[in-house]
Amino acid sequence: MKRVTEIAPGIHYVGANDRTKHRFEGLWPLPHGVSYNAYIIDDEKIALVDTIDSAFTGRLLGEVREVIGGRPVDYLIINHMEPDHSASIHAVRKTWPDVTIVGNAKTLQMVEGFYGISSTNTLTVGDGDTLSLGARTLQFHLIPMVHWPETMVTYEKTEQILFSGDAFGTFGTLDGAVVDEDMNVDKYWDEMVRYYANIVGKYGNPVQKALQKLSPLTIKMICSTHGPVWKKHIPQVIDIYDKLSRYENLDEGVVLVYGSMYGNTELMAETVAQGLAEGGVKNIVIHNVSKSHPSVILRDIFKYKGLIIGSPTYCNELYPEIDSLIRKIELRDVKNRIFGYFGSFTWAGAAVKRLNAFAENMKWDTVDIVVEEKQGLKPDNYALCLELGRKTAQKMK
Ligand SMILES: Cc1cc2nc3c(=O)[nH]c(=O)nc-3n(C[C@H](O)[C@H](O)[C@H](O)COP(=O)(O)O)c2cc1C
Ligand SMILES: [Fe+2]
Ligand SMILES: [Fe+2]
Repeated sequence: MKRVTEIAPGIHYVGANDRTKHRFEGLWPLPHGVSYNAYIIDDEKIALVDTIDSAFTGRLLGEVREVIGGRPVDYLIINHMEPDHSASIHAVRKTWPDVTIVGNAKTLQMVEGFYGISSTNTLTVGDGDTLSLGARTLQFHLIPMVHWPETMVTYEKTEQILFSGDAFGTFGTLDGAVVDEDMNVDKYWDEMVRYYANIVGKYGNPVQKALQKLSPLTIKMICSTHGPVWKKHIPQVIDIYDKLSRYENLDEGVVLVYGSMYGNTELMAETVAQGLAEGGVKNIVIHNVSKSHPSVILRDIFKYKGLIIGSPTYCNELYPEIDSLIRKIELRDVKNRIFGYFGSFTWAGAAVKRLNAFAENMKWDTVDIVVEEKQGLKPDNYALCLELGRKTAQKMK
């Protein structure tokens, strides 16, 4: 059964779709699945670029054999050691015992640490080093902390293809086609932002360094380890990664996140949203923190410039899900946001104090109207909630 896809002369996609896993990294829901991508470069020497998740090892080996028949894999290039890509290394070694494992010093240390494969038949490469496969030459560029310390990319000079690892990746399976020009890619954009915000989001500076480092290369195709092979949409994909890593918004609008047990804080949120709308904000994205998954909330926080958070006081603290969310925002060091906040309590308020400390810590441009209500929402604070919305809208202009 022939299902291998030749994406460029002599270069084949040999990945798999995961339509079963519930949560990537045990954390991030996969409503549209995810693909693990690997590639075969067929030359005098044969190179396999990355492997795939252990659940699909058999499929990987089968697909590689369909391309190369009885010839052996000569090189296994490892761009990234996270196990969604490295878990089939052992099987590749077992199937083609003479394969040379190619990685930088940090990679090879991890190969030994995770899989007990030591220095026999390995090749350590440094930044800018090249490897000839015969007619083609590969060049390696280290891009540390995108999003692990060992991450690197491999550039194939003849076809000008960048094998980018997780960089430029996205959630979402490949539903038939592999290259972007052969499919409708609309379904991937939101998932790309969710992938970036949650997995790479903390590493804006390393991503910026990587983009600068790779900018001299002429790139005709980006072969990432998740999602479509990018050919037609390369500028758009680079622009998304560039903006997100500079913590620049992709769209105009405000995300309003609130927690509420009995509806009092929720009513404040609805009122703030009304004020935003009155102020002219067209994109208002409201998340009940107990209903929307944090990965979706984080996606939208990365997407929009405005953020408003509301929380009741809970055991002298923030509402637990809000507390957990702001921890995730701090962890990713999200920059350059316009921020507003409000809260509620019944006997001694703590939520607003906590949100105030959070705002100071983030060094954001914070709206100077803060609403704190004791028990039910009353006319004064109703008016102030509207004003918080309107003032935020004004700042957005
Ligand atoms: C489990 C629980 C813990 C709470 N802890 C506090 C508290 O420590 N201090 C306080 O002033 N109010 C506390 N409250 C009261 C809420 O903050 C207050 O009723 C608020 O208006 C609830 O907002 P909501 O209707 O949006 O859920 C608590 C309420 C609950 C249910
Ligand atoms: Fe990764
Ligand atoms: Fe990955």
